[in-house]
Amino acid sequence: MKKAVKIENLNHQYADGTVSLENISLEIKEGERIAILGENGAGKTTLFLHLNGSIKSSEDNVYIFGKNVKTMPISERIHKVGVFFQDPDDQLFMPTIYDDVAFGPSNMGLSQSEIKKRVKEALATVGLSGFEDRVPHHLSYGQKKRAALATVLAMKPKILVLDEPTANLDPKNRANIISLINELNRDLGITTIVAMHDVNAVSELADRVFVLNKTIVAGGSPHEVFSDNNMLKENNLEAPEVYKLFRILECYGCKCRCPPLAMTDVPDVIDSLFDETGGKVQLCKDEKTSDKVASLLSRFNYHF
Ligand SMILES: Nc1ncnc2c1ncn2[C@@H]1O[C@H](COP(=O)(O)OP(=O)(O)OP(=O)(O)O)[C@@H](O)[C@H]1O
Ligand SMILES: [Mg+2]
Repeated sequence: MKKAVKIENLNHQYADGTVSLENISLEIKEGERIAILGENGAGKTTLFLHLNGSIKSSEDNVYIFGKNVKTMPISERIHKVGVFFQDPDDQLFMPTIYDDVAFGPSNMGLSQSEIKKRVKEALATVGLSGFEDRVPHHLSYGQKKRAALATVLAMKPKILVLDEPTANLDPKNRANIISLINELNRDLGITTIVAMHDVNAVSELADRVFVLNKTIVAGGSPHEVFSDNNMLKENNLEAPEVYKLFRILECYGCKCRCPPLAMTDVPDVIDSLFDETGGKVQLCKDEKTSDKVASLLSRFNYHF
């Protein structure tokens, strides 16, 4: 499988002296689903801006499909890496939604008929057909977020980088965007890289997680990352709520091999618990249970 992203020893300092990235090295293969977790100010957005060359490193250390991102013309960069910004207002700046979605394809030098086709398809994909003539800043936040995603999809990127895609969305739009990202990965083979605070959505969107705190402090499967309480606490992160619940149940003698990381995993986990116990899932309490629970809760960071 091809290497979609290769970063070697990347450092970044903003003009005012703020050091945002230190010694980042990572590789992502084509078709992978990656999540980058990190507290506010950890450097997620700065890292993403390096991936499409919006910020250019002084050294040659960011490669997209084997090519130095600094040497790529803009038309190639936007086709290879589509960045869905954290704030949709950063992505929508034209008088109409049509103009915004057509902006990237126009920069790629495509014909007017191809641009029209792409705008139509991208708006349909995000559920905004018929919004072509609407004024971007009159849209609701959730609609803006979907329109911003359409501006990226219209460029048919090979790598889709999404900065906080589920933030501030209602439950239906949150579920829709998670499904859409996964469909783009599964059906079109797009490599997806998401930055998230929404730990409850991580396992639904990623098979591999990097924890960022200026540098990469941990990496692995969602289970490996979320079972490392000390690392999470040191980096101001937490495990998904449903995972915490099943860890608490362990203190009551109900231990499952692989605690769920998302609500959607719960039925399978409960089924396997029944299989393992011969149909007798029991909770029990003894004189040590309360101490075990208290000790576990203290390791689960701020929420208790
Ligand atoms: N233009 C800038 N000039 C100076 N410092 C900046 C600039 N942009 C970001 N920073 C600083 O760089 C660091 C990393 O910021 P960045 O926005 O990449 O973090 P983040 O992980 O995306 O945070 P959040 O979760 O809040 O979006 C922060 O300390 C931030 O204050
Ligand atoms: Mg950010």
